[in-house]
This record gives sequence, structure tokens and C-alpha cells, in this order.
Amino acid sequence: MNLTIITNIIYIIASILFIIGLKRMSSPKTARNANLLSAVGMLLAIVATLLTKGLEFEWIIIGLVIGSVIGIFMALKVAMTAMPQMVALLNGSGGLASLLVGWASYHFTPASSLLTTVSTYLAVLIGGVTFTGSVMAWAKLEEKITGRPIQFAGQKIANSLLLAVLVIGGIIFCMNPAGNYPLFLIIIVLSLVLGVMVVIPIGGADMPVVISLLNSYSGMAGAATGFVIINSMLIVAGSLVGASGIILTQIMCKAMNRSLKNVLFSGFGSVKKQSSSAVKGEIKALSPQDAYLVLEAARSVVFVPGYGLAVAQAQHVVKELAELLEKNGAEARFAIHPVAGRMPGHMNILLAEANVPYEQLLEMDNINPTMETVDVCMVIGANDVVNPASRHDKNSPIYGMPIINADKAKTVFVLKRSMATGFAGIENELFYYDNTRMIFGDAKSTLQALVTEFKSGH
Ligand code: TAP
Repeated sequence: MNLTIITNIIYIIASILFIIGLKRMSSPKTARNANLLSAVGMLLAIVATLLTKGLEFEWIIIGLVIGSVIGIFMALKVAMTAMPQMVALLNGSGGLASLLVGWASYHFTPASSLLTTVSTYLAVLIGGVTFTGSVMAWAKLEEKITGRPIQFAGQKIANSLLLAVLVIGGIIFCMNPAGNYPLFLIIIVLSLVLGVMVVIPIGGADMPVVISLLNSYSGMAGAATGFVIINSMLIVAGSLVGASGIILTQIMCKAMNRSLKNVLFSGFGSVKKQSSSAVKGEIKALSPQDAYLVLEAARSVVFVPGYGLAVAQAQHVVKELAELLEKNGAEARFAIHPVAGRMPGHMNILLAEANVPYEQLLEMDNINPTMETVDVCMVIGANDVVNPASRHDKNSPIYGMPIINADKAKTVFVLKRSMATGFAGIENELFYYDNTRMIFGDAKSTLQALVTEFKSGH
């Protein structure tokens, strides 16, 4: 068997592993194993690529060592809550790699087929936008620049013009690539500028959606690069990243009840939003000691974790409380909203870190039909994802967003520090409902107090 056939067979095996890996990512139960399968696929793909004849290994080894050192350092240092920023940087690196490969390929063989030229142009364009766009997303989340949308008069026109110049420049370039090096360099620079321009008008809080979209772009740039260097593995892997990134973006937008257009162009977060209907009712606060008495008698308890659980780092203590409740004869479950927290799968990751059994994690659509039978629903640092206004207040910015029906439980405990709003910046009428009790304080301290009550049995 010749080397090309062996390489292609390994590429097919790696592609299958990627696809199975992606499929298995959809459940927390199989996600770890999915990661491993995909990693094995990537290892196979790298080994097969290294079999290519004529490689200069000294450069590959230098790159490998530098990349590994940076990767290990970043992986060890990154805090769980800073994961979106890290993903942004990784996407940006993918985009930059595509840009550089496209550039190098054009530099050494400027007169190639139309397919290669168009692919080179796309790799550079999408790669450039992905690189600077991701760096901007990282800077916003790290608060290196303001997280608020940066908007100015004529911004949309300027961006449209920039895009038009890139498209027209691209057509001219593709018609005569060999004699157009200066135009190629202009395309690189303008692509980098476009990445900055499209991300700065978006608010920091919308960055997770933007990062997911940029992830998809990095895949598309990779696929284009695959056509440039005629590598089927890169085309397959890039397409998978491109497609899954766009699906994730869509899921996030749907769960936030926003269109992608609204995320990209509305400047969400630039003005303080307020629900138009006034919230009526009275706040009823409860101490952890009194809350314990209710919990002690409960047969069914549902926890609704939100962003505040991550802030308080209360995942371990909530698991301990769930165990104590089960020991006490109650059924304890966790209701996971798709956009609770600030990144996809945020709550799943936190609760998995605390080893909460997967069977106790229920998705919104599965838990909602059972909420009326629940004795106590404990909302832990969640706010928007349990706001009933989404069901009836047409003027609310979250109108139409599917929520976890915490309000349907017999009793609702809300653990938060104050009456402050959540991400959407709106009041939550749930806090004023007759069956709701507010337990003010840091979520971890409150949960700890409840655990102490259970352990001492009074
Ligand atoms: P939010 O609505 O943002 O509410 C979080 C609540 O946690 C706040 O009201 C805050 O109240 C409380 N909190 C903060 N620190 C706390 C602490 N140490 N102890 C106790 N409570 C604490 O969170 P959510 O319900 O998870 O909703 C997520 C929101 O983010 C949605 O609007 C969603 O659309 C948006 N979003 C999500 C994503 C993804 S992918 N998950 C991406 C972008 C945007 P206090 O300050 O009073 O404590």
C-alpha cells in the first residue's frame, strides 16, 4: 500500500472519531469520553500528516515545543470562569494559522488554479476576521477594553463599505492573482480591520455568542485552508467546526430569544433595559434556619443554578446539600437552562466538577412538566432564566425566552445577595410572588448554613 492510501485511510478513521466525538458531546454522561475520542482522532490526523514527504522536521519540532509550553501553561492557569476568553484566544489562533498558511501558499505559488486562489482569498479573509475579532472578544471579557458596545455614527455604513471593498478586491485578486501582491496585502490588512470593527459594537455580555460564531468562522477558514494545501482532513475538520459552531450559535440565540442579527447589530447592553410592566407584591425574606425547616419536610427539591452559583463557587456545597436531602428521603434534582450562566454548558461543567451524578441533571424541557409536583424549588444565583415575565410581558426584553418554571413549585427559595438584576437588566416578578421567599446572602454561605442545619439536625 502506498503512503497516500495509508494517510487517507487514517484521515477517514480520524474523521469518524471526530464525528462520533461530536455526537457524544451532547450528553454530560458521554462528554468526557467524547473528548478523548476526538483527541485520539486529532492525534491520528497529526501523525498521518507528519508522514507527508518532504517536511522540515526541525521547524515542526520548534513549533510543537513552543505551542505545547504555551498550551500547558494556559490550561493550568485558566480559571473555570475565564474559559470563554481562553476559547476566544484558541479560535483566534486557528484564524491566524489559516491566514498565515494562505499567505505562505500564495507567496510561494502565486499563479495557481482558480479554486486554490479563491480558497486562499477566503482563508485569509475569514482567518483575518476571526483573529482580530477573537482578540477583541478576549479583550472585552478580560476587561482590557470596555465591555460596553463601542458605537459611532455611520458605523454600519463604514462596515458595509469595508466589506464591499473586500469583496470587490477579492474578485479582482482572484481574476489575476500572480500580479496582485499589493492587493493581497491590502486584503489581509482590511480583513484584520473588519474583525475589530464587527466585534466592538457588541456588548461584553454577548461575547459568548460571538465567540461561538467566531469558532464557526475559524472552522470555515480551516476548511478553506484545506483546499489551499489540498488536505482532505483539514477540509473535514474545518467543516465540522464550522457547522457545529453555527449550530451552537443558533441554540444560544434561541435560548436567549434573540436573533443573531439582534446580537450582532443591536448593541445590547448599551442602554439600561427595563421591563415596562411594574412589578407588584411584597418581598418576603427568610433566614437559612427557617428555610431548613421547610426543606427538612420536603419530599421533592429542584435546584435551579445560574450565573451566581459560578460567582459564589457554590457547586460543591450544593452537591453536599443535595446528598443530605436525599439521605433525608427527598428527591433532589437540578434543572439546567441552556443559557444559565455565561457560557454554553456552564452549569453542566460546574456541577460535573463537583461530581453531581448525571442522572440528577435535567434539561429544561424534561423538568418543566414536573414542576407543579415539586415541594421546594431553590433558585441559586439564577435570575433571568426563571423570570415569568418572559411568558406574558410583551414589552420585556426576554419575552418569549423559554424559562424554567420555578414559580410553579409549591415553594420557591431564591438565593442571591440583593435585589439586583441579572444579565438582561430587568426586575424579576418571581421574587414578589406569594410562594417565593428570598434568602439573601452569598449563595455559598447560605448553602453552607443550610448544610450545617441539616448536619446538626435542628
Ligand atoms: P443572571 O440573570 O445573570 O442572574 C445572576 C444572578 O446571580 C444575579 O441576579 C445576582 O444577583 C446573582 N448572584 C451573583 N453573584 C452571586 C453570589 N455570589 N451569590 C448569590 N447570587 C449571586 O443569571 P442566569 O439566570 O444564569 O441567566 C443567564 C443570563 O445570561 C441570561 O439572561 C442569558 O441570556 C445570558 N447569557 C447567557 C449566556 C450563556 S451561553 N450561558 C451567554 C450570554 C448571555 P445579586 O447580585 O443580587 O446576588
